[in-house]
Amino acid sequence: METKRYYLGVENCDSSRTGAWEEAIQEAVNLLKQGELVAFPTETVYGLGANALDPQACAKIFAVKGRPADNPLIVHVASMEEARRVARDWPREAEICAREFWPGPLTIILPKREDIPAIVSGGLDTVAIRLPSHPVALALLQKAGFPVAAPSANISGKPSPTEGKHVWQDLYGKIPLLIDAGKCPVGLESTVLDLTGVTPTILRPGGVTLEQLTEALGRVEVDRGVRGEKESSFKPRSPGMKYRHYAPQGEVMLIRGSAQEKREQVEQHLRNKTEGQKIALICLEETAADLEEETLDKVDLLFILGSVRQSRQAASRLFEGLRLCDEHKINLILAEEMPEKGIGLAFMNRLQKAAGQKNFLPPSQDKVF
Ligand code: TXA
Ligand code: MG
Repeated sequence: METKRYYLGVENCDSSRTGAWEEAIQEAVNLLKQGELVAFPTETVYGLGANALDPQACAKIFAVKGRPADNPLIVHVASMEEARRVARDWPREAEICAREFWPGPLTIILPKREDIPAIVSGGLDTVAIRLPSHPVALALLQKAGFPVAAPSANISGKPSPTEGKHVWQDLYGKIPLLIDAGKCPVGLESTVLDLTGVTPTILRPGGVTLEQLTEALGRVEVDRGVRGEKESSFKPRSPGMKYRHYAPQGEVMLIRGSAQEKREQVEQHLRNKTEGQKIALICLEETAADLEEETLDKVDLLFILGSVRQSRQAASRLFEGLRLCDEHKINLILAEEMPEKGIGLAFMNRLQKAAGQKNFLPPSQDKVF
């Protein structure tokens, strides 16, 4: 299959420029109506969309991504009214979340209506719903008039795509259309919040933080899987959490502790560097500035996330960094931790998953840089 690409560019993506994307949106909607897949930008990561009411179209998503059938999809909607038509109940917490955080990077789990096919919910009787804020995603959903099921537009197990070119690398030849709008501003997937239990529970941290949710809702719990506890010790509530995720080809090791401890860890890894081994360092600019030049000389790829003072921006570049490591055929990725507050909880959750169980380290809660 030939993949067509509409390249809009970030600068054309504010909502005053809809004329620039009319054709792309129309073509995407036509394809969705025919039961085809379309990759499109959201504020978090790129999505691989299908008509959520068409089980055969949704089945294609699983085939193209190589996604396990029991991992349910997020249903994207254009409005609160549409969200209510997807859910069987609409509790007070849903109303608060929708008003506070939609459109935006929050997904809520609610009991599902019967017309949402079982393939979308992985056989569960709940459904994940999100109203995204990216103007192109919103325009697509509004024009479609039906809900769109969309996981991240990557091959299962790879880091999520935060740029159109990542989707191209993973899905070229497998889907008919990519709407490329450049970088996704949040760069990490949406927060998944389960509203079906007694207490709202974060199953996956993301763009809307624990602190924000707690302020809006009062009590909010964080599922045990989020902070990277050994997966065999609990039953995941979100099926997606049991799979290895966000994984680059190279081994990922965390760099953590005080500035001096971090420096020592980096130096030690580079001292032990073997013939032919390629090492990347993904870190904050403050940490890079702290390293000796001869240490930096031995690093094959230095990826600066940004400043500790702009943690959202730094976090938004994690997947880009992990993907670049693959392009450079890096064997060992040294990645610096962030404190697990604000967006740092989502950042560390993805980094721990990329490191996998072997290199799992319990969180060092209150260490500052
Ligand atoms: O930011 C995002 O959420 C992106 C963009 C495209 O919207 N989408 C995304 O989808 O990250 P995906 O499929 O990669 O991740 C969906 C997560 C998975 O961990 C899945 O297990 C969980 O949401 N999920 C979906 N439906 C669920 C349900 N009914 N109960 C519990 N977890 C659910
Ligand atoms: Mg995904």
